[in-house]
Amino acid sequence: MEKIRWGVLSTGKIAHKFAQALQATADSELYAVSSRSEEKAEAFAAQYGFEKHYGSTEEMLADKNVQVVYIGSPMSCHYEDAIKCLMAGKNVLCEKTVTLCTEQLDDILKLADEKKLFFMEAMWTKTLPHFLQAKKWFEEGRIGRIKMIKSDFVNMCEGDPDNRLFRSDLGGGALLDLGVYPLTFTQAFLGSSPESITAYAHMKNDIDYDDAIILKYHDAIASMTFGFDCKSENAASVVGEEGVIVFDSWFHCSEKVSLYDKNNRLIETKNFPHPRTGYEYEIIEVNRCLRSGLTESPLVPHSGTREVMVMIDRIKKIIGLSYPDENCNSQF
Ligand SMILES: NC(=O)c1ccc[n+]([C@@H]2O[C@H](COP(=O)([O-])OP(=O)(O)OC[C@H]3O[C@@H](n4cnc5c(N)ncnc54)[C@H](OP(=O)(O)O)[C@@H]3O)[C@@H](O)[C@H]2O)c1
Repeated sequence: MEKIRWGVLSTGKIAHKFAQALQATADSELYAVSSRSEEKAEAFAAQYGFEKHYGSTEEMLADKNVQVVYIGSPMSCHYEDAIKCLMAGKNVLCEKTVTLCTEQLDDILKLADEKKLFFMEAMWTKTLPHFLQAKKWFEEGRIGRIKMIKSDFVNMCEGDPDNRLFRSDLGGGALLDLGVYPLTFTQAFLGSSPESITAYAHMKNDIDYDDAIILKYHDAIASMTFGFDCKSENAASVVGEEGVIVFDSWFHCSEKVSLYDKNNRLIETKNFPHPRTGYEYEIIEVNRCLRSGLTESPLVPHSGTREVMVMIDRIKKIIGLSYPDENCNSQF
């Protein structure tokens, strides 16, 4: 079986983890990497064994052998990078949060559809076995009707003000960096848009640092906090009328999930050790879709990504968050 030839766009922190995960998936070829700096691309290629390295996105996209591009650039670059990749005929796996606003996402999905190319947000949580196990328990009726979802993602991020996390021009802020996980988690269980949203945020230098959100659905409530200013366990639970599913620390990427009955008695715990970094699962899913001729992953469907993006837009409005690059006009 021929391997899927991957191109990695950027050499930042997450690109390193992604490259390690590519090494751990048997049917992926570490084919090419691009960076704004030729030297960085060369060093990255040597470190992980990529065959080609390029000093610009355009050069990598001109390489006919690249089948699928992983976009690991800051949020403010995703729109332009994804459009460039699709225009060049490449399939795309794009980091979260996929774009700065829904209009940008719609442009991308329309173009992917026109070009009959694969596009997926790199929302790895939805491909991880602990999450799929939880969905299975829910779909089997093990917890009954969902009444509440609670989730937190608080990660101390101090230091360099030049870090993309703190820069409005790079799409920084806790909502896009962290909040996308609890929102995706909630959307995956409760589905389409909530009836109402309450949101609070501490804003500093035009970005949100610490946020608290409540989503009111017809028959359920979801609450979440996320932020850069402190540390927490980052747990989550899905509370139903008949039982509770509990995700311990780092709920969005942990290896463990537990099922309790409605009297808080443990019924079952499942452990799924990551092969390496955990990003292998999203890679396996992309490779599977490409081999099956799919342009959309059933695990991370466009509709789910879009529903979360719509919620993000609603929350941005409430907390007064906007981005300089957020010119939600089609650029192609
Ligand atoms: N799935 C996850 O668990 C996870 C974890 C962390 C981050 N992420 C996502 O991955 C993306 C990147 O995050 P990161 O933490 O890897 O960020 P990072 O360390 O700042 O790296 C971003 C890279 O993007 C490239 N880049 C292109 N245009 C840029 C610009 N104008 N300014 C700065 N860098 C630019 C740079 O690579 P070159 O210098 O090589 O061009 C840079 O190293 C974000 O979308 C983030 O949400 C996902």
